[in-house]
Amino acid sequence: MITLDGVRKDYTSEVRIGPVDLAIPAGGITALIGPNGAGKSTLLTLIGRLLGLDAGTIEIAGYDVARTRSKDLAKVVSVLRQENHFITRLTVRQLVAFGRFPHSKGRLTAVDEEMISQAIDFFELADLEGRYLDELSGGQRQRAYVAMVLCQDTEFVLLDEPLNNLDMRHSVQMMKHLHRAAAELGRTIVIVLHDVNFASHYADYICAVKDGAVVEFGPCAQVMTAPVLTEVFDTPVQVIDGPNGPLAVYY
Ligand SMILES: Nc1ncnc2c1ncn2[C@@H]1O[C@H](COP(=O)(O)OP(=O)(O)O)[C@@H](O)[C@H]1O
Ligand SMILES: [Mg+2]
Repeated sequence: MITLDGVRKDYTSEVRIGPVDLAIPAGGITALIGPNGAGKSTLLTLIGRLLGLDAGTIEIAGYDVARTRSKDLAKVVSVLRQENHFITRLTVRQLVAFGRFPHSKGRLTAVDEEMISQAIDFFELADLEGRYLDELSGGQRQRAYVAMVLCQDTEFVLLDEPLNNLDMRHSVQMMKHLHRAAAELGRTIVIVLHDVNFASHYADYICAVKDGAVVEFGPCAQVMTAPVLTEVFDTPVQVIDGPNGPLAVYY
């Protein structure tokens, strides 16, 4: 379980995120949705301790995020940031291998190498594994970053818009993979998704965020309603019955 208790980030006197109280259940996928600037990335980076809190506490599986040593936290939670794609003079394989660092301390074992190869194969990067990151397309680079995060093999996984730049096939593949990791390995995945219909189809819970506050949180059907989505996104949204739950329609 991830709990946020009175969590606040005050960027400036005008831009304040929170206070947020939230309890994300262990196991399953929780999707964070909301318009640009709502505070989704802020919440995710606070949970992953890539950003310091101004008030409140965050616990992940009982660890107080502010007080846990980085090397211990790195074995419990992994994070994909929305914009972290600054490193370019690394090959795909070198990047994915970074995911094993909290376990291997830089000395990769045969098991580490095998996990790296599996992640590279799964994300269809085998032909590209020797290429530098700045020699890839945006979608290929995005897949390499997600492969690195999943190679960290943590119980809690935080992903900020991992479908950015991905085509339909790779988006579906990635969501199916995350769904399996949650259902079969008991992982807890918190994911910022741009597309509410991907959230509805693959997530177990949706947390709708607007103006630095949680507007609605619960099972998908509770959040995927015309009034909630219209209010959150500030644009008319209809909701229809899809093959696997509600789907939003907007033009
Ligand atoms: N470093 C920062 N300094 C000041 N304001 C920031 C900073 N980072 C984000 N913000 C502001 O905080 C708000 C929430 O941003 P963010 O969490 O990135 O939103 P989202 O991910 O939902 O699009 C926005 O208004 C954004 O402009
Ligand atoms: Mg964001």
